Order: sequence, then structure tokens, then C-alpha cells
Amino acid sequence: MRDHGKITFFDLRDRSGIIQVVAANLKKKPRLHTPVKVVGIVKERPVKLVNTKIITGKIEFELKKLTVLNQSQTLPFPIDNNGYNIDEALKLKYRYLDLRRRRLLDNLTRRSQMVDLLRRFLIKRDFLEVETPILTKSTPEGARDFLVPSRLQPGYFYALPQSPQQYKQLLMVAGVERYFQFARCLRDEDPRADRGFEFTQLDIEISFTSQEEIMNLIESMLVKMADQMKVKLTSRQFPVFSYQEAMNKFGADKFDLRKDKNSQELAFAWVIKFPLFEKTDDGGWTFTHNPFSSPYPEFESDLLQGKNINKIVAMQYDLVCNGYEVGGGSIRAHKPEVLEAVLKIMGYSSKQIKAKFGHMLEALAFGAPPHGGIALGIERLIAIIQGESSIKEVMAFPMTASGTTSVMDAPSQVTKKQLKELKLAIQKQPKS
Ligand code: AMO
Repeated sequence: MRDHGKITFFDLRDRSGIIQVVAANLKKKPRLHTPVKVVGIVKERPVKLVNTKIITGKIEFELKKLTVLNQSQTLPFPIDNNGYNIDEALKLKYRYLDLRRRRLLDNLTRRSQMVDLLRRFLIKRDFLEVETPILTKSTPEGARDFLVPSRLQPGYFYALPQSPQQYKQLLMVAGVERYFQFARCLRDEDPRADRGFEFTQLDIEISFTSQEEIMNLIESMLVKMADQMKVKLTSRQFPVFSYQEAMNKFGADKFDLRKDKNSQELAFAWVIKFPLFEKTDDGGWTFTHNPFSSPYPEFESDLLQGKNINKIVAMQYDLVCNGYEVGGGSIRAHKPEVLEAVLKIMGYSSKQIKAKFGHMLEALAFGAPPHGGIALGIERLIAIIQGESSIKEVMAFPMTASGTTSVMDAPSQVTKKQLKELKLAIQKQPKS
């Protein structure tokens, strides 16, 4: 607000931006950040008052009547800058105010736009959007599970999904053929700039498919998305590296192919031919990416016999962009004996296999079609597009680095009554 005595200028803001309001003889000046109802006339500004720096700089709003709809206290921090230098704990406590910031509102807007474009692309190609459960079963898929105690079956737990991997494969057995979902995934691993407890995948699975079909589909989807979002691509054909080539050339399975590392363009690349297994610290074997991946056909007999394990190559592919892994997928083991062989090599006993994966082996035995898929990390993709170095900047309510939620301060203690209902006892109260 700028007060010139008889004339007051202030900025009126909504989600789309700001417009300058000109008010004559304003009796009571509204406080900053108060919601108002205004009646007046939108006018062209006199030529010498045109502001070329803002989109609405050629017009102004001549105020006739102002109604204040609520009052606002002074904000805990300014919202008219990019906000990077403000204390993070304070920003997350008042995340709803931080989100008033143009940069964050733009990030949410662009994320919504991207999700919309991806969804339309897939729907147009006959994909079915299907939701899968959030309360599900704990299965070893790489990260630690978040567990939810069951009230009806005390002592038993649901796990929150690390990904819809098994459900989407079951949907292939069901004959859904082409599935996608913007799936919330939960993994209890230490949060980092590119990793959160909660994140969203664009999860895809296709029956009777091939690695080439999936890679081509993703490539055309992302090229189209980039064009529609006016983002530059380093290459419209994504280069393909084998895992070995990538390791030899870049010393890592993710890398940045941009010539100028500060440029805002996207440099996608594929990495394929990952080993199916890697050694564990205690001398056993574990999967490198996904226990449900299939080996290339020429390795199937070795796999079934448990031979040359370190040489088995999986039909697995990662999508890399500007140094980040933005997606990963594989052609799956669709025959029960192949999945069982993978699990045996990983050291599971027949009893453990039955308890943990029995439902999958059973489902595959009902003529599961050959299938494969991929999942893209939505936060990573849009963070790269928006030039943000942390995925927090593209999430509405992210967590702190120590896993406390913004605004609401979860995790929190629960009442004795809640614990009793769940038949849970806390061994030691944490220091509050
Ligand atoms: P994966 O575990 O590789 O594959 O996950 C797929 C993509 O999701 C993103 N991602 C994350 N983003 C933010 N925070 C995290 N903690 C996080 N973890 C993963 C990454 C990653 O490339 N079910 C398989 C997919 C499949 O095989 O179809 C899976 O979940 O961008």
C-alpha cells in the first residue's frame, strides 16, 4: 500500500496475480493481507503511469466501494520475495502463508498442469486409471515400511504402500491391460533433498508389452509434456546406456547430460541392462531394483538353476534426468517359477516365500499375461522443471528434515484410550 494522502494505491492480489487499486478519500485503510470485496471500474492507466514490469501494468482498478471481509495479523515473514533465505522451521509452521508466495504458487500450478497433461496423454491411449489400497501388507520392497496397527485384529499391522507394485501386477492378471495411477507412496527412509517419506509416482503397467514399447511410450509422453509446458529438451530422442556403459562413463547410474549445468533444459537418458542381483553385506544376494523383475530370456535357465547369479541381467530400465533418477521399471517375471527362483536366490525359505509372496505366486499361476511397467517420480520431475533443488518446494505440505509434518506437527502422542483400543503399550514415553 502507498498512501498519498487523498489518494491511496494498493495491490489487490488473487491466485492469478496482482492489480493496482486506486482509492480516493479512503476513510479507513484496510490492513495488509486482508481479504476484501471491491466494487469499482477497471480502467486503462494514463500512458505515463504504465508499468511494463507486471502483466496488469496497463490497467488499474478505480475503487468505488471496499468491504473488509476479515482481518489479518502481521505475517511472520515477507511473502513478496522468493523466500529461500527464511528459516525453514518457521516457513513450514506457517506453510499456508509460505504458499501465498508467487514462486510456490507457481510450483503448485505447474505441477497441476503437468499431472493434467500426463493423465490426458494416457487416457487418450486407452489406459485405465485405477486406485489401489493404502492400508496393505508389509512386503520387502527395498525400504522400511510405515506400519498402522489394526484395531480389529490387535497385534496385527497394515503397512502403507511403498509403491503399488504388487497391486498393479494383480490388475494385469485381472485383465486391465493398461493401468496408470498417480499413486501416493510411503517409505520410511532418511529424507533428503530428492527423497521424502511421502511422494507421488505416475505408476504404469501394461500387459503383452516389451521394454521398447514402454520406453517409447514414456519418451513420447515426456516430449509432448515438455513441449506443452514450454520446457526445452537437450535431446528429443533419449540416449540409451547400458548399466555397464553408464558406470564406465559416468561412474554412476545417474548422470547429467546437459552441456551447461545451469541451463533450465531437461536431459533425459535411459539406463538399461541392470544386474538382477547384487551381493549383500553378509554374503547373500538381494535384488538391485525390484524383486519382481524378469531376467532377459537367455538368463532364465541360469536363474531357474541358481547358476551364474552375478551375471544375470534384468529387463530393467531407469530414466535419468539432469543427474536424478526420475523413473524406473521392468518387464516382470510373469511365471510363478521365475519369481520363486528369484526369491530363493535371495535366501527366502519356502515357508517365508509362501507367507510373504504366496498371493503373488498364486495369482501368476492363473495365466498371468506377460507384463511390465514403470513409475515416474512426480516431485523429482516437476522440481527439475521448476529449477528447484529440493522436492519440498513442489509439495504443498512437506515435512521437515527430521520427519515432522508442516503446520500440524505430526507425529504426536495419542490418548491412552486410543492406545487401549489398539491394545498397544508404549514402552518408554519419548521426551516431549
Ligand atoms: P522406484 O522405487 O525406482 O520403483 O520408484 C520410482 C521412482 O519414484 C521416485 N522415488 C521417490 N521420489 C521421492 N521420494 C522418494 N522417497 C522416492 N523414492 C522413489 C524416483 C524413482 O525413480 N514399483 C517400482 C516401479 C516399477 O518397477 O514399475 C518402484 O517403485 O523418481
